[in-house]
Amino acid sequence: MTDESLKYPTPDRSPTHETHEADARDLPLEDNTVDFIVTSPPYWQKRDYGFEDQIGQEETPEEYVEVIIETLDEWRRVLTDHGSIFFNIGDTYEKRSLTGIPWKVAEAAREDGWLVRNEIQWVKESGMPDPAKNRLANRHEPIFHFTQNNDYYYDQHGYSHKYGYNGANPSDVWNVGFERNTGGHLAPFPSELVERAVTLGCPPAVCTECGEPRTRELRRTDKLDESRSQAKRAMEIYEQSDLTKEHIRAIQSYGISDAGKAREIQDGTGRNAEEVQELAEEAKEVLGGYFREFTFAKKETSGWSECDCDAPTRPGVMMDPFCGTGTSLDAAANMGFSTVGVDLDPPEEIQMSLGASVQQG
Ligand SMILES: C[S@@+](CC[C@H](N)C(=O)[O-])C[C@H]1O[C@@H](n2cnc3c(N)ncnc32)[C@H](O)[C@@H]1O
Repeated sequence: MTDESLKYPTPDRSPTHETHEADARDLPLEDNTVDFIVTSPPYWQKRDYGFEDQIGQEETPEEYVEVIIETLDEWRRVLTDHGSIFFNIGDTYEKRSLTGIPWKVAEAAREDGWLVRNEIQWVKESGMPDPAKNRLANRHEPIFHFTQNNDYYYDQHGYSHKYGYNGANPSDVWNVGFERNTGGHLAPFPSELVERAVTLGCPPAVCTECGEPRTRELRRTDKLDESRSQAKRAMEIYEQSDLTKEHIRAIQSYGISDAGKAREIQDGTGRNAEEVQELAEEAKEVLGGYFREFTFAKKETSGWSECDCDAPTRPGVMMDPFCGTGTSLDAAANMGFSTVGVDLDPPEEIQMSLGASVQQG
C-alpha cells in the first residue's frame, strides 16, 4: 500500500481551541457546530467532584442513566449530521454486585434514537492494583460508539492502516495501557484512545458553506495482503499466470454478486454481464481454490470527496464535554483538529497548552 493511503486533505482554515466553564447538559454552543465527541463522563457513585451541578452522584443507577440521556440529547443539538460520539463508561459495584451501568446507558440511548454501532473493549492490563480477594481485577471498560444515523463520518481505511490492520476491518478490542500526564499522575484517559477514536470519526476537513465533510474515496487494487499465507500463494499464482487486471475485476464483481451486492458492476438484469462471467470462469480455472482471495483485494485511496461550493474548508471540531485535565483535547489538537473543552471546572493546563481562553457559559 502506498503512503497515499494515509494522506489527509489539509483544511484551508487553521484549527481553533476553546474551553468553556459550563454544564455538559447546557452547552454554550450553537447548533450543528461540533463534528465529533470523545469523552468519559463521571462514573456513577465513584468520585465526588464537589460541585452542585455535578453528574455521577445520583442516588440510583436509573437516575444516573436518565441524566446521561439528557446530556446526550444536548450533544445531539450541537453535533453536525455527520457527527458521532465515542463514550467511555465504567461500571460500579453496588452491594458487592456489578450494576451493569454501561449497558443500561447503551440500552437507554438506543431507545432514545441513537445507534449503538460498537462496544469497543478497552483492555488495560496494567491498571492500578485491585485489593479484592474473591473476584478478579476489573481490567476492561466499554467505549460505545453512538451515532445519530447511518451516514456518519468514518474513516475505517485510514484507521486500519495507521494501527497495523493493513486494510482489513480492525478489531473492537483496544489494548491501551495507562500513561502519565504532565503532572506525573496516571491520566484517566490515555491519549492513544483519543487518537484512535478521532482517526475513525473526526473529519480532517469540512466545507464552511455546506458543512459536508471531505470523505476518503477508495479504489480496489489487484494486490492482496501478503501477510496471510493463502493470499501470498494466490498472488504468486496470479503473477505467474496470463491473468490480467480485468480478470481480477471480474472475480471481484463475481464474488460480490455471489453475496448479492454487486449492483454497480452488474448488467442491470440482476446477473453479471456475460463477459464478466467468462473472465471470472477463466480466472477460476487458473486460481482454483485461491480464486476467492481476490475478493479481498486491497483498496487504496484515490482521493478525497469535493463539494460544489467555492468555499474554504475548516478542520473538524472535536469536543470533550467532561474534559477534566484536558488529555483528550491535547491529543486531538496535536493531530491538527479544532477542539472544544467543557467542564464545570476546566483546569488551567488546558488553557496554557492550547492557548485558549476560558469562556463563561
Ligand atoms: C474527567 S471526567 C471523568 C473521568 C472518569 N470517567 C472518572 O469517572 O473518573 C470528570 C470531569 O467531569 C466534570 N463534571 C462533572 N459533572 C459535570 C457536568 N455536569 N458538566 C460538565 N462537567 C462535569 C468534573 O469536573 C471532572 O473534571
